[in-house]
Amino acid sequence: MDKILGIETSCDETAAAVIENGNKILSSVVASQVAIHAQYGGVFPEIASREHVLKIVPVIHAAMQQANVTWQDLAAIAVTYGPGLAGSLLVGVNTAKALAFAHNLPLIGVNHLEGHLYSNWLEPSSAEKEFPLIVLIVSGGHSELVLMRDHGDYELLGHTLDDAAGEAFDKVARLLGLGYPGGPAIQRAAERGNPQAFKLPRAWLRGTYDFSFSGLKTAVLHLVQSFDGKKPLPVADIAASFQFAVADVLVEKTCQAATEYHAKGILLAGGVAANTQLRQLMVARAPVPVSLPPLALCLDNAAMIAAAGFRRWQRGERSDLNLDVMPALRLK
Ligand code: KG4
Ligand code: ZN
Repeated sequence: MDKILGIETSCDETAAAVIENGNKILSSVVASQVAIHAQYGGVFPEIASREHVLKIVPVIHAAMQQANVTWQDLAAIAVTYGPGLAGSLLVGVNTAKALAFAHNLPLIGVNHLEGHLYSNWLEPSSAEKEFPLIVLIVSGGHSELVLMRDHGDYELLGHTLDDAAGEAFDKVARLLGLGYPGGPAIQRAAERGNPQAFKLPRAWLRGTYDFSFSGLKTAVLHLVQSFDGKKPLPVADIAASFQFAVADVLVEKTCQAATEYHAKGILLAGGVAANTQLRQLMVARAPVPVSLPPLALCLDNAAMIAAAGFRRWQRGERSDLNLDVMPALRLK
């Protein structure tokens, strides 16, 4: 029974988890800073790293206690080393290095995006999957369409040319006065709205698997301005129309890629994968089975980092104590 401790501090969640055999979550502790950053309307990097410094030791301690394990029970320590905020990543990486050194445990550096993808191998979605797979990773910082040929074998098919999908949700929520984080706020408002109320533009970028959301964001801005404070802003209808425009493009391009690359399945990952409309539309239109991680595993957590680290550990991959943070790390 191989147990891995995962550590995640790439953005505004301080997280630690212990998992067994790559898929069973023994504990998963997440200390969210959302309430602190909400007053700034987004993540304030300097405050994020200071909060990580305050939380990291108690969070790891809680994860070890809840899993009922000691350092001797662990096979390795996996930690996110990028992409993300440099100062935030540093806290997790330095803590993991110190613990690996002190307890003589192997250290495994994990790409945060690979972590998101491996939320699809954690219980209850842990069934083995047939390759190739198409993975849509949509979060606050990323919108990536990935061809996964095997464990650890990725080809980036497309990415966003401007805003990430989650970033677009956050910015449009601000335009509509819905607060931060925008994704859940837009989803709530959209429940009372009509997704066909406003025809908003879709950037199809035909012939590529890239995405672009800045035109859509600008269209929402102009729509909001057109009301000019004279009439009440139809927030629910705008939220629903915006959410549908984002989901429509993400789903269509993912399904196209699944067909072109003869994928055996589609995986969703990242914070925006928690979106109900995106999940429903993907399942309705997909030509192959869709794997949807539970909502809590879509958001940043350390169980997914431990799951990705487990596969690397199994393949004999190890990082050394010179492991450095890579804020712009890409998936490969
Ligand atoms: O993966 P994540 O927790 O952090 C990053 O790695 O970025 O994703 C956070 C993003 C935020 O932009 C948030 O607005 C978005 O995911 N999000 C959602 C939903 N829940 C979170 N977007 C749309 N619908 C949701 N239900
Ligand atoms: Zn993330």
